[in-house]
Amino acid sequence: MKGIILAGGSGTRLRPVTIGVSKQLLPVYDKPMIYYPLSVLMMSGIREILIITSPADKDVFGKILGDGSSLGLSITYAEQTVPRGLADAFLVGAEHVGTDSVALVLGDNIFHGPDLGPLLRHHVRDLDGCTLFGHPVRDPERYGVGETDSRGRLVSLTEKPEQPSSNKAVTGLYLYDNDVVEVARQLRPSPRGELEITDVNRTYMEEGRAKLVELGNEFSWFDTGTCDSLLEASKYVQEIESRQGTRIACIEEIAYSMGFVSAEELHELGARLSSSPYGNYVKGLVEPRPLLEVAG
Ligand code: DAU
Repeated sequence: MKGIILAGGSGTRLRPVTIGVSKQLLPVYDKPMIYYPLSVLMMSGIREILIITSPADKDVFGKILGDGSSLGLSITYAEQTVPRGLADAFLVGAEHVGTDSVALVLGDNIFHGPDLGPLLRHHVRDLDGCTLFGHPVRDPERYGVGETDSRGRLVSLTEKPEQPSSNKAVTGLYLYDNDVVEVARQLRPSPRGELEITDVNRTYMEEGRAKLVELGNEFSWFDTGTCDSLLEASKYVQEIESRQGTRIACIEEIAYSMGFVSAEELHELGARLSSSPYGNYVKGLVEPRPLLEVAG
């Protein structure tokens, strides 16, 4: 399966913060936002990743992530000249997808929870048509909202409904078989002039080939598209990391745990980050711990 991170758009809801910098490069506590969706693809076992950005931001993403080889990945970049909608990712990325299946993740989405990696890898293996991931939210009118039958098949889907039929938001992680490229090619722009991902998902739903997997309350999910949700996500990451002494979306650690890099390579990745707490954490993952002195 190939991966695409959609990291374009104009971030208008975060202005003036996003006048000079892409939204997906803003910090979410201790790392750039793009690390979070990238970590989701890596945990899914995906190593060939296309990052779609606006033309102005492409080089900065390249400066941060390069060609991905230091993480055992292949990262390439493509430009979306104007924000033509989420489904445009499959037109811009058609060559990257080739004849493969594909996971699309939105560059402003953060996922965290127990055994997320094994769960994602299970659904990558099990893919039949399209798989979406739902999460309960208090403000479903901000999102795509779906309903399922007893077998988890998607039976209704509405984008930003005024009267939501459920509190199940469709998150920004989507798995598709190769048909998605042709489905996207057949789409007509919506009244707001965009190629809507919801129309792609409805096509699969109408063919009975769309699944909506519920991520329960044990998972946390953030769409960091507003100032409040961005701050909320940063506070969440800070709290979990300082309480547990672990890191969320540490791409170097995930590369190591997935077997994409060796212990020596991991240490080198940490050393390159100088003496920041993040770099020290990465190095410390493979440094022997000092023996505790036993008193008396
Ligand atoms: O986050 C989940 C939600 O994402 C879903 O529940 C909705 O069904 C889905 O439509 C989407 O809604 P948003 O209102 O959050 O989409 P937004 O227009 O904010 O775009 C999401 C991200 O994709 C954002 O980081 C900018 C980027 N983007 C967006 C468009 C329209 C692009 O890179 N290119 C684009 O053309």
